[in-house]
Amino acid sequence: MKKLIIIGAGGMGRTMYDLAKESVGYGVKYDIVGFIDDNINALDNFNNYPPILGTIRDYIPNRNEAFVCSIGGHSRKTCIENLLSKGAEFITLIHKTARIGSNVKMGIGTLIGTYTTIAADAELGDYNFIQSLTIIGHDCKIGSWNRIDSQVMMVGATTIGDNNMIHTGAMINHNVHIGNDCTIGACSFVTMNVESGTTLFCAPARRLK
Ligand SMILES: CC(C)(COP(=O)(O)OP(=O)(O)OC[C@H]1O[C@@H](n2cnc3c(N)ncnc32)[C@H](O)[C@@H]1OP(=O)(O)O)[C@@H](O)C(=O)NCCC(=O)NCCS
Repeated sequence: MKKLIIIGAGGMGRTMYDLAKESVGYGVKYDIVGFIDDNINALDNFNNYPPILGTIRDYIPNRNEAFVCSIGGHSRKTCIENLLSKGAEFITLIHKTARIGSNVKMGIGTLIGTYTTIAADAELGDYNFIQSLTIIGHDCKIGSWNRIDSQVMMVGATTIGDNNMIHTGAMINHNVHIGNDCTIGACSFVTMNVESGTTLFCAPARRLK
């Protein structure tokens, strides 16, 4: 059985600890042994969590360990790439309440949160972070390194590239393509294609900067 280590011991890290205990494979394929965080005191005021085993910067992965990353901000990719360069193995966590449709393709290092649906024939790359109560419609195509918050609706066959942040409650309408490195604000309704590097907000969504 792999020893699972959660990267980041902040609020999302603690949430991910609970998600990992409720995900497919817990107690069979992996057990949770602790966190790594550059703030080694991050859990000082919290009880009932496994320990912080070291810093992200200096941690040397062992062969029997596996990793998931709870960091959803801009440092997510750097943290994961740092560990990958030291030989870390990442796994995908799929919460037991998630619905994964027929022929869905999904890469490594991904989180699929509570009650999230990935509908038929959707394709997802690697290291995506998809939180709870989100719907990824049929035939959607999602690149890698995307953060998709809770209660997001990606209508069937929409596509997004890499490194995007789609915030809470956003809705992506039919036939919309979102490029790379975009931020979609909370509760946005995105009705047209989004150029790479754009921040959108509001309903219907418009450019913030
Ligand atoms: C879109 C977003 C990324 C922009 O952040 P920002 O660049 O820091 O911009 P600001 O917060 O300074 O907002 C700029 C303006 O847009 C407005 N605005 C920002 N986000 C908005 C949104 N989602 N809907 C409506 N208006 C919004 C602000 O009120 C502000 O208006 P003002 O200039 O008249 O005062 C951010 O507001 C957002 O939606 N974050 C998502 C938070 C979230 O869901 N987190 C998930 C945690 S799990």
